[in-house]
Amino acid sequence: MTAIVAATDLVKTYSMGGAPVHALRGVSLEVAAGEIVAIMGHSGCGKTTLLNCLAGLDTVDDGAISIAGEPLHLMSDRRRTAYRARHMGFIFQSFNLLPVLNTVENVELPLLIAGARPREARRRAREVLAAVGMERWERHKPAQLSGGQQQRASIARALVNTPAIIWADEPTGNLDSATATVVMELIERLNRDNGQTFVIVTHDPAIGARAGRIVHMQDGVISRESEVGSRESGVVRKRHSTLGETTSLRIVTDLGLPSGSRLPTSDFRLPAKGKWTPSSPSPSSRSRAASAPCSSRPCSSSA
Ligand SMILES: Nc1ncnc2c1ncn2[C@@H]1O[C@H](COP(=O)(O)OP(=O)(O)O)[C@@H](O)[C@H]1O
Ligand SMILES: [Mg+2]
Repeated sequence: MTAIVAATDLVKTYSMGGAPVHALRGVSLEVAAGEIVAIMGHSGCGKTTLLNCLAGLDTVDDGAISIAGEPLHLMSDRRRTAYRARHMGFIFQSFNLLPVLNTVENVELPLLIAGARPREARRRAREVLAAVGMERWERHKPAQLSGGQQQRASIARALVNTPAIIWADEPTGNLDSATATVVMELIERLNRDNGQTFVIVTHDPAIGARAGRIVHMQDGVISRESEVGSRESGVVRKRHSTLGETTSLRIVTDLGLPSGSRLPTSDFRLPAKGKWTPSSPSPSSRSRAASAPCSSRPCSSSA
């Protein structure tokens, strides 16, 4: 397996008024490129801490984290921030859209921060908004959107820099179950069509059932793992859906997405600064990457 995430013996202790809180007590985890992994467990067991540490939003006290062969735990704050901006996407429970910006401005923001030209950033933002069925709402501010629309906009924002890996913390936590299903369908489609890796923290068993693998946490450690889908060429395909066919069709129509549509990524380039180099791409992942512009290949490579 080409591990896009390899974490070993992660330890994180918070101090709460002098008393230590052992949020991570030796967590090791590998995620293959192209997987959807769900991290589940009771509130307070360390899921968000693990996600934040893996993604470089927070630092560990001990242990090693490698993302596509790059040692995240050894990077300076500044390099880690730049690395995140170029190679990772984030989806949060509270959407985290900036209220003063409209949809397209929110979506293009990561590109502008990464140094893309404004005109290019706008074009690319419109592309991903179309891919998540949100092009009609590009001038709306977050307060003028429903929860589901806000989450679709935030997914577009997570995808705009063509990240190989997307981290999601309770992405459906603020959505009703029908909208949660729509959002999860969208994540599944992006994973299937573009080979993007998703690591999703969730309470929701219905979301877990749609992942390829569930990592169960308890009290700062991984208590067990369970496979949900079957693996093909490093990509976990789901074996069953919690939806009947009729429901799926209706949802696709609601989103306004043709079922086979894929995220357009063909001619978008971030300024060539960092380089995305998976440690040892397998022949299967290479051939998949050739047909999947948005997979774990270099952001700056041609597709
Ligand atoms: N910034 C922080 N300061 C102090 N304690 C924290 C902080 N973040 C999380 N914790 C504590 O670490 C433990 C794990 O929290 P968290 O990772 O948020 O759990 P989960 O996401 O599974 O609900 C909890 O006991 C929580 O109170
Ligand atoms: Mg949490």
